[in-house]
Amino acid sequence: MRIRIAYYSGSGNTQYVAQLLRKYIKNHQISTFFIKKNKKMDDSYDALVLGMPVYAYMPPETVLEFLKGLKGRERPVFVYITKGLISGNAGKIAAELLDKNSFLVVGVHDILMPDSLFILLSKHGSLLHRIMLLPNRGIEERVERLATIIVDKLEKKTMTIPKGKWYVPFTKVVARMFWKKEKKLQEAFLADERCDLCGACEGLCPRGNIRVKDTVVWEDDCEFCLRCLHRCPREAIQIGTYTLKSPRYKGP
Ligand SMILES: Cc1cc2nc3c(=O)[nH]c(=O)nc-3n(C[C@H](O)[C@H](O)[C@H](O)COP(=O)(O)O)c2cc1C
Ligand code: SF4
Ligand code: SF4
Repeated sequence: MRIRIAYYSGSGNTQYVAQLLRKYIKNHQISTFFIKKNKKMDDSYDALVLGMPVYAYMPPETVLEFLKGLKGRERPVFVYITKGLISGNAGKIAAELLDKNSFLVVGVHDILMPDSLFILLSKHGSLLHRIMLLPNRGIEERVERLATIIVDKLEKKTMTIPKGKWYVPFTKVVARMFWKKEKKLQEAFLADERCDLCGACEGLCPRGNIRVKDTVVWEDDCEFCLRCLHRCPREAIQIGTYTLKSPRYKGP
């Protein structure tokens, strides 16, 4: 079976899991695809694994846009979600979109990993920082087991759409408050004096939202994945003064 792992990733958790799945899924032909805005994926696969983080209890906007352009043709798809704590209905929403596009959804699985947003509230090297990294314990073994489950589900082809979670009406209120606050945080992105205008952040942004010329400019199409902030090679990207002492996180 030709298995395509299509994933989206901000700080690197979902990307890390995709790379491990590639390592642990044996006896099949595996290819990977990093989902970016307006990037087209070829159709040469028999089964799909979709990997995504959850952002404010929802699939990332870039993933929703990507899914709209896919044609399932009754091929099986397995969805994995990396989360800091609670995934809300992110899995259900992605599964329903895939189902609508004629995919056969065979499984949805959450993986607890460090929270790429809340880790910024800790100070580098602090106790809280170490606590935030705890979910990475045993991650390789968990993904190895998941690889076996995925292959089994893709082969058996039994449809599974997750049920809605009872707490979602509450998380919707929290999400609305979060996105209001997040708009302000986006406006506070800046590159500090450590920036050497290397241009790496332009290529890092999955939405093509950054321009580097004489300075670094964030345009108006950010979904706050934090890839630029966590992965700038000089740790020069800040959100105002909030992140001056925050650790950067690139996955396990
Ligand atoms: C903007 C933003 C919103 C987030 N919202 C949630 C959330 O609603 N629930 C949750 O469990 N984790 C949330 N997280 C944490 C990420 O889902 C989690 O750390 C994920 O593994 C990040 O994957 P990535 O490194 O591949 O981007 C959020 C992270 C960010 C940056
Ligand atoms: S990646 Fe960092 S150092 Fe390079 S241009 Fe962007 S902000 Fe500056
Ligand atoms: S600008 Fe930074 S935080 Fe916003 S989408 Fe691009 S990489 Fe993610």
